[in-house]
Parts: sequence; C-alpha cells; structure tokens
Amino acid sequence: MSDAAVDKGRRSWIAITCGAGAVGGAVVAVPFVSSLAPSERAKAAGAPVQADISALKPGEKMTVEWRGKPVWIVRRTEAQLATLKQVESQLADPFSKRNPGELTPEYARNVPRSIKPEVFVCVGICSHLGCSPIEKFQTGPQPSLPNDWEGGFLCPCHGSTFDMAGRVFKNKPAPDNLEVPRHMYLSDTLLLIGDDGKS
Ligand code: FES
Repeated sequence: MSDAAVDKGRRSWIAITCGAGAVGGAVVAVPFVSSLAPSERAKAAGAPVQADISALKPGEKMTVEWRGKPVWIVRRTEAQLATLKQVESQLADPFSKRNPGELTPEYARNVPRSIKPEVFVCVGICSHLGCSPIEKFQTGPQPSLPNDWEGGFLCPCHGSTFDMAGRVFKNKPAPDNLEVPRHMYLSDTLLLIGDDGKS
C-alpha cells in the first residue's frame, strides 16, 4: 500500500510544489478551507483527526490530513528501526534537539522519534521550503540518493534527505527534522493526531 485509503485530502497539499514555500501553501489553503462543510472546516482549521492504523502493515505508510497538511504514519519494520542507529553520525540533529517545542514533543525525543518504536508519525512537509518529500524505503543505490542509502525520505525540490525517523541528513538545504505532531493512542489501532491530552 502506498498512500492509503485514508489519503483523501491530498488535493490540499499537492499544490505545495517546488519553490512554493510555506507562505504559498497557506495562501492556497484559504479557498479550500472556505469551501468545506462546517465540520470539515473545523478539521482543516486545526481540530484533531483520528487515524485507524489497523490495516497498516510493516513497511507501509498511510497519510491523513490535519490542518490542511499531510501527516504520515509509517509502520516501520525491525530492519528499518535498526537503520536509525546506523545513520546517526550522518544526521544534522540526531537527537531532535533543535526547536523541540515545535518539532518533537517530549514523548518523541528518542531515537525512533515515536511513542511506539514501530509507529512513526510526522508531518510530511520539508523544513526547507515546504515541499512534500517522497518515501524512499528501498535501500541501496538509486537516483538522487547515496549508494549506502538505508531508506527514508527524499525531498525532490532541492535534494534534502531524511532517515526513517524524519531526521534530516547533514549538509542539506533543509535545516530541521520533519515535525512530529502532537498525537496519542486512543486504542492500539486508533491514533489521534493533533492532540496528546497534555496541552
Ligand atoms: S523544499 Fe527544498 S529541499 Fe525540500
């Protein structure tokens, strides 16, 4: 499964293309929000959204929309989790110390940047100019990636790369790791994105 069945709101962020930064993204979101029904409008304005991850298999990613932004949920395999330590020395901010209040809630300030090691949640928007990176979970040599690629995400706009925990590699245009939004588990298979019951 690529972007999963829940990937219905793609239209709102697909407009955030190369060169159109965060400001451009905000501008195009206005007519989208105003065209929605009241409950949908509340959701786009910031209300938390639920994500059922019961069908998400190891190695798969699904996308839900929160505040008009794509939020990725990846169920990482044991092998993918093992890469997190291996790439640590190549990362700009391996321990998520930069802007932790904005980018990494307390419960995700760990190596996998997650509550449960296997389930990774992040906002799929590059910290450089706001493009949406693409998943590159396949390891090994391939175009635009180093030969020792261990899997992660590639931003096609200016070549920033992120590991399987959304941590940006050194010497790339993107200054920061991908944002982990506040979230919590309502059950083993149901996530709430945008609220963690703590703030
Ligand atoms: S927007 Fe420039 S590298 Fe992602």
